[in-house]
Amino acid sequence: MMPLRHILPLLLQVLDISAACAANTTSTLFRNGTIVAFNRETESLEVIRNGAVLVTGDRIASIFPNLPTRSELPSGTEEVDITDKILTTGFIDTHRHGWQTAFKTLGSNTSLIEYFPRYIGFAAQGHVSAEDVYIGQLAGLYEALNAGVTTSVDHAHHTWSHEAAVAGLQASIDSNARVFWCYTIQDRENFSIDEQLADLRAVAATASFRGTPTSMGIAYDSFGPNPNLTVVEAIVGLIREFNLSVLTTHSVQGPYGFDNSPEDLDSLNILNLPIPIIISHASFLTAAGATLLRSANQYISITPESEMHYGHGHPTAHLILDQAALGVDTHFTFSTDILTQARLWLQSARRTRYELVLDLWQTPINNPMSVNQAFLLATRHGGLALRRDDLGVLCEGAKADLVIWDGTSPGMLGWVDPVAAVILHANIGDVQGVMVDGRWRKRDGKIVDKRYETEVKQRFLESARRIQRDLINTPLPVLNGGITQRVDTLRGEGDGYAETLLEV
Ligand SMILES: *[C@@H]1O[C@H](CO)[C@@H](O)[C@H](O)[C@H]1NC(C)=O
Ligand SMILES: *[C@@H]1O[C@H](CO)[C@@H](O)[C@H](O)[C@H]1NC(C)=O
Ligand SMILES: *[C@@H]1O[C@H](CO)[C@@H](O)[C@H](O)[C@H]1NC(C)=O
Ligand SMILES: *[C@@H]1O[C@H](CO)[C@@H](O)[C@H](O)[C@H]1NC(C)=O
Ligand SMILES: *[C@@H]1O[C@H](CO)[C@@H](O)[C@H](O)[C@H]1NC(C)=O
Ligand SMILES: *[C@@H]1O[C@H](CO)[C@@H](O)[C@H](O)[C@H]1NC(C)=O
Ligand SMILES: [Zn+2]
Repeated sequence: MMPLRHILPLLLQVLDISAACAANTTSTLFRNGTIVAFNRETESLEVIRNGAVLVTGDRIASIFPNLPTRSELPSGTEEVDITDKILTTGFIDTHRHGWQTAFKTLGSNTSLIEYFPRYIGFAAQGHVSAEDVYIGQLAGLYEALNAGVTTSVDHAHHTWSHEAAVAGLQASIDSNARVFWCYTIQDRENFSIDEQLADLRAVAATASFRGTPTSMGIAYDSFGPNPNLTVVEAIVGLIREFNLSVLTTHSVQGPYGFDNSPEDLDSLNILNLPIPIIISHASFLTAAGATLLRSANQYISITPESEMHYGHGHPTAHLILDQAALGVDTHFTFSTDILTQARLWLQSARRTRYELVLDLWQTPINNPMSVNQAFLLATRHGGLALRRDDLGVLCEGAKADLVIWDGTSPGMLGWVDPVAAVILHANIGDVQGVMVDGRWRKRDGKIVDKRYETEVKQRFLESARRIQRDLINTPLPVLNGGITQRVDTLRGEGDGYAETLLEV
């Protein structure tokens, strides 16, 4: 018998495996940087200075405390010097509506009640074609990638027709970002729930996303009060049949009455489905709801800027941070990045906890939340919410979704603690490089995909200008609810509120 070492090369030659592997597997070594790694044993961040990270294919192959020798590296490894830079895992946005990019700046001073009749899927659909959905979703995902957001959970409520649904999914795939694209089942004009369920099935069966970082999930916002059991059953059936990647729902309880609470899901017996469930906002979460989330190990998505902007935050969110991740929500209205969300949330959770002591007329002596906790909420917790142990962590075996920060920018210069430098001093202009699945998506400060500059921007602007003109000329209906008192920023008469700045 021939020894194996003689047969193997022949076999590889015959099958052309070695050639195929070499062509497809790229290796990159990041060296001499500061690495914000994740230690699985202690469940905490571990800073490695002057270390190196080897990426092979779509994974982090090794983390070296010192510079490895050439012989430790696969042949053809590209070396990237990251001296004075910080290497972190990418951010995870657990709640987004990517298709809405065209509305940018239109919602700068809306409340949630003003938002609904204008910007939500069934309100806007008359103004937005499938092509508009495609280009808005694509532009929105480049925006996210540019900001170091490598993963997003997209509550895709643009699924008002087969064409619009497929357009948003295709844009997610084409962006090369990691998108958990969630087909949204909801009451719509001219596209019944039954038609949507059939369409979801058709889209899932096509599996056009297979082999890409995009996967398909499902979104539904009518689990309670008064759920339609037939629809819920059909949704659960589709989840099981297609092993959809996540189920997500908006929960805004209290005066909003848009419950979809953990209690509602539990009474339908679906909190323990085999897939992760993400409850967005979870405003007015109860203690009982929190207990249910913990027992089923399901997560909420706190979207700090959205909740502050629209007025649907909740006073107890700081009590469920062990079962919470962060999200952006309507990126057309405010920051697109999870870094800003982490910073806002860190400071608002601190404020909440400080006030409990201040209310007792005592001076707080310790700081209630750390930058490391904020960083982990923005990264690791997103992975946990998705039950993906390989996302949101920089450690061996994890997905190579990475961000390189310029540690020498004016804002960051002088840092000692890289986590504090990122969470409290960086901005998205400091994001120099982004990888998803071990492939460059932003490099040297620029989106890598050539189509972005040559085609996507122009197509997007044409689409956005038309939609913006349409929306600005569509009057809002009369709304019911409580009136908030405006702040006054002007001495004397008048409050300084911008009445109309809109001209397209
Ligand atoms: C590897 O690359 C070759 C040519 O570059 C391509 O034909 C093949 O489909 C690729 N294989 C995989 C698994 O991507
Ligand atoms: C990179 O790190 C190696 C080993 O720690 C060191 O010898 C070398 O001088 C460093 N290079 C730069 C550019 O800092
Ligand atoms: C539904 O179809 C009717 C008749 O074609 C049309 O007038 C209406 O605008 C459609 N509604 C939406 C939201 O597209
Ligand atoms: C529940 O949904 C099914 C399927 O769309 C529909 O046929 C039925 O009329 C709905 N039931 C109620 C009570 O609305
Ligand atoms: C379902 O998908 C997950 C990843 O989303 C995978 O880990 C799991 O093995 C799949 N389960 C089945 C039964 O295919
Ligand atoms: C701000 O809100 C007011 C009241 O809703 C509205 O009249 C005005 O057009 C808004 N301004 C902008 C810039 O959106
Ligand atoms: Zn939302």
